[in-house]
Amino acid sequence: MNMEEIIRIKREGGVLTPSELKYFVRGYVAGEIPDYQVSALLMAIYFQKLTDTETAELTNLMRYSGDTVDLREIPGVKVDKHSTGGVGDKTTLIAAPIAASAGIPVAKMSGRGLGFTGGTIDKLQSIPGFRTALSPAEFIEQVKNIGISIIGQSGNLTPADKKLYALRDVTATVDDKSLIAASIMSKKLAAGSDAVVLDVKCGKGAFMKTLEDARTLSRLMVDIGAYAGKKTIAVISDMNQPLGCAVGNALEVREAVEILKGRGPSDIRELSIKLAGIMIYAGKAAASIDEGCEMAESAILSGAALDKFRELIKAQGGMPEVCDDTDLLALSDKQIEVHSEFEGYVNEIDGEKVGLASQHTGAGRVTKDDEVDHGAGILLNKKVGDFVRRGELLATVFSSDLDKAESAEREVIKSYRIGDGKAGEMMLIKDII
Ligand code: URA
Repeated sequence: MNMEEIIRIKREGGVLTPSELKYFVRGYVAGEIPDYQVSALLMAIYFQKLTDTETAELTNLMRYSGDTVDLREIPGVKVDKHSTGGVGDKTTLIAAPIAASAGIPVAKMSGRGLGFTGGTIDKLQSIPGFRTALSPAEFIEQVKNIGISIIGQSGNLTPADKKLYALRDVTATVDDKSLIAASIMSKKLAAGSDAVVLDVKCGKGAFMKTLEDARTLSRLMVDIGAYAGKKTIAVISDMNQPLGCAVGNALEVREAVEILKGRGPSDIRELSIKLAGIMIYAGKAAASIDEGCEMAESAILSGAALDKFRELIKAQGGMPEVCDDTDLLALSDKQIEVHSEFEGYVNEIDGEKVGLASQHTGAGRVTKDDEVDHGAGILLNKKVGDFVRRGELLATVFSSDLDKAESAEREVIKSYRIGDGKAGEMMLIKDII
């Protein structure tokens, strides 16, 4: 067997056997197969596609390409949550404490942000003192004690995905459904939870631009999860504008606290409650998704969800007082107000452009080693459907650097489309698979 033969088989539209896939994944992780050959294979896969069986096999090989997490010591049905990546998406900060307050153990490994989407770990690090690096023993002990821990991905988890994702990123092969499904599900399966709730984003600011594509990706991931014996449920949610009003790390934690207090923008509140409700159902604490959502609403109303977030922050060395006084989450000192040049209804806010603007402020990374400005970002004052007068405030840009703030300001202006007619109501949750 050799790599050239494997590339040729896929180039001609053939189906790779489990041993051919194993040869490629093992050889690549071991550094025996060069990037240029794997690039050629990825492009052949991009055009010829993988069958569902090949995708499931590739996922499995990637899952076991490095360490796996064993959560069996923690009693109960452990539930993980994953989003395919959205701008302003702070649902983990809300749904995870809600689910944990309803008795669902949440042992979650999250990522750092790269590109125009933010990462949960960067958001948590905007809380003074919060430690995102715990040892495996500390991580498990904390979930046993308080029912929740959120840490950065540590150790040698799914090295095949790390290498393949970095290569896909520079060879224009990221947006293939099989490769996305294998990438996400290999990480979720290696992370050891019993059930997985996926938030598949659909729209302009997402990998999946159409509902049909989002459904196909969701079914693929749900089938892979089920095949591995893990209950997997996917929510397809709209990504045609940023989620909520806050984009940027400290700004997003402030908004998450508002939602946990029963306030804040309705879109992020609705999606977080749905995801938490599904987590509660997947964790077998509710008999249906509707019942899970009712429990999630009650956890917000009673203050139990906010108390759990406080407990999580305290357990990981952070300042729990941010839950009572969000001004303790420092914002960058250079602030520019963006005013509307037009009058009319906001018809669109391009999420990708707002994400780029946020990256320009210093809230996101351009390369993986960049330092993040935790107080930087964008606060939207107008969302799709709102009426705006000429000169009215559209958004505020925060940065520690005035040049960066001005560059972000230009991007924010470009992201708004304002017209005479009001756009039709957008459905936030499009399907559950
Ligand atoms: N998120 C991932 O983890 N992998 C992908 O391929 C796409 C989104």
